[in-house]
Amino acid sequence: MTKLGVVVVLFSLVAAILPCAQSLKVESWATRLESRKETVTSLQFYFHDTLSGKNPSAVRVAQATDTAKSPTLFGLVMMADDPLTETTDPNSKLVGRAQGLYGSAGKQELGLIMAMNFGFTDGIYNGSCISLLGRNAGLHPVREMPIVGGTGLFRLARGYAIAQTHWFDPPTGDAIVGYNVTVVH
Ligand SMILES: *[C@@H]1O[C@H](CO)[C@@H](O)[C@H](O)[C@H]1NC(C)=O
Ligand SMILES: *[C@@H]1O[C@H](CO)[C@@H](O)[C@H](O)[C@H]1NC(C)=O
Repeated sequence: MTKLGVVVVLFSLVAAILPCAQSLKVESWATRLESRKETVTSLQFYFHDTLSGKNPSAVRVAQATDTAKSPTLFGLVMMADDPLTETTDPNSKLVGRAQGLYGSAGKQELGLIMAMNFGFTDGIYNGSCISLLGRNAGLHPVREMPIVGGTGLFRLARGYAIAQTHWFDPPTGDAIVGYNVTVVH
């Protein structure tokens, strides 16, 4: 190898070892690190919300005195532990669970406020989660909701979820909803 070749190899090694971002101690109690490394992840899965039967995945935990009289069931609060699967088939591969609350927060139009943790259990995402917090106008064919954070591989996540109802059974309220999620983390 020529001298130049050796220098190039050494330089590449040093460049690979040195982090491109520089950590700066700006105060005795604060360190600032500028980094432009971000990942965009797209997820696609189906959410199965089952209110009917002996083993519902979503249960009513509270309601207001007038909830039953309200056309939008205003004041109703549900707690859910819903499976997330790879396809619309409830028996397809389980990728995670959506655990949390949703409640009717709209008096004029059905508008659910959703506060849910989507915890993943499949492959490299096992143990990582994203947090969804936003309004879900359930009767609209397509809804958008914010993703406000995450853990594990999704640390510092922010993004959005596009929800589209795949199947809904009005008498029971059972639903299968497709979620397309885009997060930057
Ligand atoms: C996910 O991780 C948990 C805890 O580490 C483990 O028990 C479980 O088997 C894993 N699940 C899958 C599908 O790999
Ligand atoms: C979700 O993503 C799939 C696959 O990219 C696409 O076919 C579908 O139209 C998307 N749905 C919505 C509501 O954007």
